[in-house]
Amino acid sequence: MKIAVTSVSGHLGKEIVKTLMAITAKENIIGLARTPQKAQDLGIEIRPGDYNDQAVLETSLHSIDILLLVSGMDAPDKRIEQHRKVIQAAKNSGVKKIVYTSIQGAETNTAFSPIVQSNRQTEQDIINSGLDWVIGRNGIYIEPDIEYIDTYKKLGAVYNCAGDSKCGYTTRPELAFAYAKMLMEDKHNGKVYNLHGQALTQYQLVEYLNQAFTTNLRYSPMTVEAYREDRMAELGEFLGNIIAGIYQGILEGECDNVSQYQQAAGRPHQSWDSYFNGIM
Ligand SMILES: NC(=O)c1ccc[n+]([C@@H]2O[C@H](COP(=O)([O-])OP(=O)(O)OC[C@H]3O[C@@H](n4cnc5c(N)ncnc54)[C@H](OP(=O)(O)O)[C@@H]3O)[C@@H](O)[C@H]2O)c1
Repeated sequence: MKIAVTSVSGHLGKEIVKTLMAITAKENIIGLARTPQKAQDLGIEIRPGDYNDQAVLETSLHSIDILLLVSGMDAPDKRIEQHRKVIQAAKNSGVKKIVYTSIQGAETNTAFSPIVQSNRQTEQDIINSGLDWVIGRNGIYIEPDIEYIDTYKKLGAVYNCAGDSKCGYTTRPELAFAYAKMLMEDKHNGKVYNLHGQALTQYQLVEYLNQAFTTNLRYSPMTVEAYREDRMAELGEFLGNIIAGIYQGILEGECDNVSQYQQAAGRPHQSWDSYFNGIM
């Protein structure tokens, strides 16, 4: 059984490959990458895999049984078309099953919603493909908050517009563990899983950051409008608006969903106590 993973030049794709290598022979794992030279460190066969090039994807998917499609990064309309090229290439090449990394979040009403909608469209396209499928809806990565710690230290606080709503965070290694199971085990076929750990408020997240980094940060909620202006000033209109949209979705409870992580992974998601103890 040969498994291909897309976007193995990125964090999630790499993590999924590393997890698969622990449970199946590396000869059975093929990495696809838009930029293959960024994936050579994995020590597996890497084939070209730009989502814009269906012909190349078809060649690269030759002899593959199962495909893990990591969702792309382009604007929503473009992303839908790119994912359709991957799905069509998979069908034409004889792939039997697609596992897709989708996302949780507000489907309407925020600047992030068009991206969530584009993920929902790809889910539908995969369901309609006639292939076997499994869909994971990823929670929000917690790693960016860790990477942002120096900025938080300078500010003395975490500012955003999530208020006291909860967010189902996860980590890429935890996602990779679940995706490896979803790829290898037939019992997941036809299932849609929300993949995240225990949901946290921003107040709880800041407590964990304070314990892990011996800081004295506080959480300071902002209005959606003020946070959007703040993010746009720092990150530009496009990205600032999207980041504000993600946190608006958290505020509106759209990231506080029931998790099916245990069904997908066959074990509970790592606890936040364990995660934050591990980064100290
Ligand atoms: N749940 C969350 O909190 C969260 C946060 C951010 C993003 N995401 C989503 O999760 C996905 C994976 O996250 P990550 O951590 O792995 O992101 P990442 O490290 O930034 O990697 C993004 C990957 O997407 C690849 N890519 C972009 N456009 C492509 C194209 N046209 N064809 C093929 N590959 C393409 C990049 O390839 P190159 O190396 O060639 O650029 C890279 O490998 C992202 O793509 C995004 O959709 C989720």
